Amino acid sequence: MALINPSILSADFARLAEEAKAVEGADWLHVDVMDNHFVPNLTLGVPVVESLRKATDTPLDLHLMIEDPDRWAPQYVEAGAGSVTFHVEAAAAPVRLAREIRAKGARASMALKPATPIEPYEDLLPELDMLLIMTVEPGFGGQAFLDIMLPKIRRTRELISKHGLELWLQVDGGVSEATIERCAEAGADVFVAGSAVYGADDPAKAVRELRAQAEA
Ligand code: DX5
Ligand code: ZN
Repeated sequence: MALINPSILSADFARLAEEAKAVEGADWLHVDVMDNHFVPNLTLGVPVVESLRKATDTPLDLHLMIEDPDRWAPQYVEAGAGSVTFHVEAAAAPVRLAREIRAKGARASMALKPATPIEPYEDLLPELDMLLIMTVEPGFGGQAFLDIMLPKIRRTRELISKHGLELWLQVDGGVSEATIERCAEAGADVFVAGSAVYGADDPAKAVRELRAQAEA
């Protein structure tokens, strides 16, 4: 299985509905929420997610790069997200938050910045539907893929297998035709791609090509 989730961070924000439609055929639409505190950039909030939900049939994969996700994540489920990812570095009570996201009907997911190890969180994995390993420092699209994250992807895949879990392993940052095969080989199965999709002449075709490469 390889899921391709285009990130609308690299889309034209004045034409979000059209840009969402341009990648129908993708598995999920990745929506980056930034608050200018957890990361030095500011994007969009709950009202935009509510509107996006109406603009596309593609399920929404929310990536919350914000402080106090314990307070905000449930509101993104109510806004129509099918999956909500919070950063463990920002969450006060990650287990409680994951359970609340699931109880409200969305997939619960937790993200790790590049310098955050997976090992302290091994026992939390059964509470999650997805784990996101950042392959750039969060905050901006178009950054170079961090090869040094490949061992962490590999170790996380081993932990998932060891516990016999079903959770998805997502990578986000610098994923492109040049790097997706390395991510897949290391054990990732959900691939976020911003500039590699929206920077292409034909975004829908870029999604198909990335999927074929990841599944090769
Ligand atoms: C970065 C965001 C990513 C971003 C990826 O902090 O979380 O989702 O859109 O963009 P690319 O694929 O261009 O690295
Ligand atoms: Zn993201």
